[in-house]
Amino acid sequence: MEVIKQVHTIRERVQALRCSGKTIGLVPTMGALHQGHLQLLKASAAENDVTVCSVFVNPTQFNNPDDYELYPRTLDQDIALLETVGCDMLFAPGAEEVYPRQHTLLQFSFGALEAVMEGAHRPGHFNGVATIVSKLFHLVQPHRAYFGQKDLQQVAIVRQLVHSLSFDVQLVCFPTVREEDGLAMSSRNTRLSAAQRQVAPQLYMALKKAEAQLRQNPVPTIKAGVAAYLGQVDGVELEYFEIVDPATLQPVAGLDGMQEVALCLAAVVGPVRLIDNLLVNLN
Ligand code: PAJ
Repeated sequence: MEVIKQVHTIRERVQALRCSGKTIGLVPTMGALHQGHLQLLKASAAENDVTVCSVFVNPTQFNNPDDYELYPRTLDQDIALLETVGCDMLFAPGAEEVYPRQHTLLQFSFGALEAVMEGAHRPGHFNGVATIVSKLFHLVQPHRAYFGQKDLQQVAIVRQLVHSLSFDVQLVCFPTVREEDGLAMSSRNTRLSAAQRQVAPQLYMALKKAEAQLRQNPVPTIKAGVAAYLGQVDGVELEYFEIVDPATLQPVAGLDGMQEVALCLAAVVGPVRLIDNLLVNLN
C-alpha cells in the first residue's frame, strides 16, 4: 500500500489511474480505524479496481477544541489494518497540506437538513464536513465513496452536497457495526474508562426500548421514556433523542403514513460525546 501525504502526489496517481480506465473507491476517515471503517474498505476493495482510504483529523469540523486535540491518532496501527483489507493507497495529509495559509473559509448552507440534531448541537460541524469531503472528492475523483449509517445526518448532508455541486460519484452507505454488547463502534470509544465503557451500551439499549414501544405509544411518550431511561443511568447525559423521517431528517409528530423512521440520539459519556441511531421499518 502506498502512503501519500502530498496533494500533488495523490492528484498524479489518480490521473494515471483514471487514464488507464481503473475505477476508484474512496473511504474517507479520521483514522483510529475499527471494524466499522474496515467493512467500508472491504466493500470498496470488492467493488473497485483501486481503493483509497483517507485518514485526516479534519480541524474544521470540530466545534470543541479539546475533542480535536484528544481525538485518537494511531497512524501506524491504521496502516497495518489497511494492509489487511486490500486498501491500495492511503492519503494521510497534514493539516497545512489540506488547508494552505490564507485559504478561504467556505460557507455551505444545508437549510433544514442541518437545523436539527448534530447540525443544531455542533455549530459549524457540517460546514467542516462539507469542506473536507468536497476537497477529497476533487483530489481523489472517486467513482464510488463509502459512508456509514452510524453518521446518518452526515450521509444526508453529503448526498445533498453531491447533488448540489454535481460531483460525479456514487455514494454507498453501510449499516452500523456494533460491539457485542451493542455499543456502536467509534474511534472515540477508546477514550472511555472501563466504568464509562460499561455504561455506554445503554445508549443502544435506550434505542431498542424506544423501538419496542414505537407502535404502541405516541411520539412524545416515547421521547419522554428515553429521557427517563437514560436519566437514571449514572454517567450518561442525554443531549437529544429524536424520531425523524430518514429522508428529510425532520422530527415527526406521529407515525401515521410513515414507512420508516430513524431513532437518533447523542449523549455525553464521561469525556466523550457519542451518537447512535436505529432505522426502523414500520411495515
Ligand atoms: P470517521 O468518524 O472516521 O468515520 C469514517 C466513516 O466510517 C464514516 O462514513 C462513518 O459513518 C463510518 N463509521 C464510523 N463508525 C462506524 C460504525 N460503527 N459502523 C459503520 N460505519 C462507521 O465520519 C468521519 O470520520 C468524518 O466526518 C469524515 C467523513 C471522514 C470527514 O472528515
